Amino acid sequence: MQVLKHKIRAEGKVLSDTVLKVDSFLNHQIDPQLMKEIGQEFAELFREEGITKIITIESSGIAPATMAGLIMDIPVVFARKRKSLTLSKNLYSASVYSFTKKETSEISVSGDFIQPDDVVLIIDDFLANGQAVLGLIDIIEQAGARLSGVGIVIEKGFQNGGELLRKQGIRVESLAIVSSLENGKVVFTEEEQA
Ligand code: G4P
Repeated sequence: MQVLKHKIRAEGKVLSDTVLKVDSFLNHQIDPQLMKEIGQEFAELFREEGITKIITIESSGIAPATMAGLIMDIPVVFARKRKSLTLSKNLYSASVYSFTKKETSEISVSGDFIQPDDVVLIIDDFLANGQAVLGLIDIIEQAGARLSGVGIVIEKGFQNGGELLRKQGIRVESLAIVSSLENGKVVFTEEEQA
């Protein structure tokens, strides 16, 4: 998605060989116009799939997921990372280990918002090692719903999440795939191939 890649180039900050900071439009401040275009792109990519629900994970997945949900006219559910006071019974939960943060967190979704007849699209902001997506897939399976695919805003192609998921036959659509952040420079996958 060219407009996204331009934005990453213009505003992304390479913090190290593995971390890209995009706080000005995705992870802190949000660019609603760009999120709308991202939502349209996901809606177009998954148009034929009969999707009934989008699932994401708080907090940075919520903006792109909501825009896709608006355009696809379906509800958006976000997995919570902290137990809510009002969220106690009828919960699906999964453990998510973050290699980046070296900690395990418990994510949960209320059984009220995911049903066995749902066809689910997972949307998230970053795909690194794929652990957050695997946690969401675990929850979808517990609910007996069907996973249709995964939509990612920025995939870090040099980490193994994309391969891990695609190897299992899961459809993963990433709007920008970063193949390298070495020497402070963002390189996207297709540029390497060109
Ligand atoms: P994984 O789920 O793919 O295995 O990812 P990982 O544990 O490595 O990532 C932990 C958190 O860091 C996630 O956000 C993820 O989106 C984010 N992240 C991973 N790599 C990058 C990166 O290069 N740049 C940025 N900006 N974020 C990255 P989170 O903790 O859930 O945060 P949030 O959704 O509340 O913002």
